[in-house]
Amino acid sequence: LALVERPRDLAGLSVLVSAGGTREPIDPVRFLGNRSSGRQGVAIARAAADRGATVTLVAAHLDADVRPDPRVEVISVGTADELGRAMDATAPDADVIIMAAAVADYSVAAVSEHKLRKQESPGTLTLDLVENRDVVAGLVAARRPGQTIVAFAAETVDSEQELLERARAKAARKGVDLLAANAVGWTRGFESADNALTIVGRDGDVVSMASGTKDDTAHALLDAVLAARTR
Ligand code: CTP
Ligand code: CA
Repeated sequence: LALVERPRDLAGLSVLVSAGGTREPIDPVRFLGNRSSGRQGVAIARAAADRGATVTLVAAHLDADVRPDPRVEVISVGTADELGRAMDATAPDADVIIMAAAVADYSVAAVSEHKLRKQESPGTLTLDLVENRDVVAGLVAARRPGQTIVAFAAETVDSEQELLERARAKAARKGVDLLAANAVGWTRGFESADNALTIVGRDGDVVSMASGTKDDTAHALLDAVLAARTR
């Protein structure tokens, strides 16, 4: 185990991170979820604490082996709506907001009060889904001066060029200061302890290309945040 002494270059800053994957209930025992483990967001929270920040983590579902650092204040949430309300409540105090959570784009229109029974829907089941509000867009709209907002994008792409194009478009659409994009797929991006991030600024400029462990990419992202704040 190598102990790396980190500069306390985030001392005095309040950092708010979201991590994990939200779960949208279908009925009392079932949900719609996603494959996010929470590993990258939890690594960012720990890295920020290592660098002296005061850190709050809004944690949607995390894999069982992903445990937040004890220095980090954790707010546990389930659904996208709960995550949005927790972010809205804590964002005003944050200097840096990093939206690493995989937030469900839709929730079930009519959540069943009882466990759905097969006899009710023989052969095929259709669920109506309604679009959830965009949490990070709301945070950008409410941003106060001096606040740095970072979004993530996990994209299925055929090339690095396509990843970059999608990252640029999403950064512009969201109005965030930085957007960290990574390529995902059936066999890519989730189970691994490693990650590769392409980080773009609000004008679409590539400010960092980072790969390595999720701790390495967490520190690279925080370096990019500090650079963006002094620009
Ligand atoms: N996000 C959010 N609220 C949502 C959906 C996403 O705040 N309802 C945030 C994510 O946490 C991430 C960023 O927006 O930081 C980008 O998420 P992504 O799913 O890549 O973008 P979407 O705008 O949802 O577009 P799409 O899924 O269609 O690519
Ligand atoms: Ca989405």
